[in-house]
Amino acid sequence: MNNNYRTYVWSFLGRISHWLLVISLFSCFITSFYEELLTLHVSIGIVVFGMLMMKIVWGVIGPKYARWSDFKFALKDLKFYFVEKIRNRYRTIQPGHNPASSWFAFLVTWFGIICCTSGFLLYGIQEGNGIFSSLNEKYISKSEILDSTHIFLAYLLLVMIFAHVSGVLIEQFYHKTNMVMAMVSGYKKAKGEDITTTFRMKLLGSLYIIGVLIIAVYSYCTPNNMFTKSKFEKISYKELDYDFYFECSDCHNLFPPFLLPANSWTELMKNQHEHFEEDLELDESLVKKINSYLVTNSADKSTKESAYNLNREINNSKLYTITKTNYWKQIHKDIPEKIFENDIVEKKSNCVACHKGFEQGIIFDINITYPPKVTKK
Ligand code: HEC
Ligand code: HEC
Repeated sequence: MNNNYRTYVWSFLGRISHWLLVISLFSCFITSFYEELLTLHVSIGIVVFGMLMMKIVWGVIGPKYARWSDFKFALKDLKFYFVEKIRNRYRTIQPGHNPASSWFAFLVTWFGIICCTSGFLLYGIQEGNGIFSSLNEKYISKSEILDSTHIFLAYLLLVMIFAHVSGVLIEQFYHKTNMVMAMVSGYKKAKGEDITTTFRMKLLGSLYIIGVLIIAVYSYCTPNNMFTKSKFEKISYKELDYDFYFECSDCHNLFPPFLLPANSWTELMKNQHEHFEEDLELDESLVKKINSYLVTNSADKSTKESAYNLNREINNSKLYTITKTNYWKQIHKDIPEKIFENDIVEKKSNCVACHKGFEQGIIFDINITYPPKVTKK
């Protein structure tokens, strides 16, 4: 049967950072499914990133068993660990990381850091937000690969965490090593030397954790901070080009010029007498003037996510019905047809019903009101 050894292995700060990592990673998964929670997702991502970075530094300056030098990476140890696990149910366990958890901690830390970094880059490049927003213009074409990397790593982490939790539960209930409690009390049922945490470790560790939490709350709660600020501002088309605003927002919401490529706008203006069965009846000079504004600010000149995708799809086909593009259909495919026909939305082209700020050129995840509510136009 089991021994009664008890060794203090996980420091208070180590355990706090472990559970903060658990909670923040879990919250990141949940928030990733809600477009409008992107800012929260990123702010929580800061905590994940902060706790993973702490693991690396703690592994150098922290107490004994948290140190990378104490980890067991030799493959023969790993093999022995599993053989012993099967052969000997009530084996004695080591304080600190066993070979399996050493590898787990190492891989999760690095995959996690890459996952977070790809997320921050994606937030900057695809959405034009946060500390990497200046990379948006240059690298928008890389957003797909970043997106796939981010999602792939997130699911990889999920699988690894599942394996880790299973391992801990096997320890708890099969080997009866009370492993779950170790990360709560800090004590492991193993024979070894208790750790000691120095004043310096406690001071640095606490300040670091508090600092990370303050940054995360700050990035979520304050407007226009460096971590979430958008490089794209509201555009007042009314002030910038009154003719465009006046002539094009009478029958439907105003469509920001960056949603269609130059060729499509020219085609739309050329067909002004047969504009979706309406005649716009604009005189030639007005057509020219509005067309020139649209062309100057068209999708091919914008690095907004929607502009980039629409431009890439429409290209030179001169198509100008946004709602007929595969891109538009694809993003809105989960919305039931009857929502588009209800009293608030009325028609697909009434984008402003669900996209707050649409007519000021704001089409970001966090501005989506869905299901649509009655909003002032
Ligand atoms: C007389 C009314 C009227 C005016 C004025 C008007 N439109 Fe339209 N427009 C329509 C109708 C009707 C549709 C079909 C979709 C709908 O019902 O909203 C449409 C559709 C569109 C669409 C495609 C929307 C989609 O479904 O993807 C674009 C883009 C568009 N208009 C741009 C313009 C621009 C630019 C101007 C100004 C030069 C303009 N419209 C002025 C009536 C109008
Ligand atoms: C009934 C509500 C509704 C209407 C109307 C609507 N959308 Fe959307 N739109 C959504 C929702 C919900 C999402 C988020 C979908 C998702 O990613 O799961 C979305 C996403 C988008 C996105 C992607 C945003 C991003 O940052 O990823 C774009 C671009 C977009 N819509 C453009 C339009 C345009 C243009 C129109 C009008 C022609 C329109 N939408 C009309 C509900 C609507």
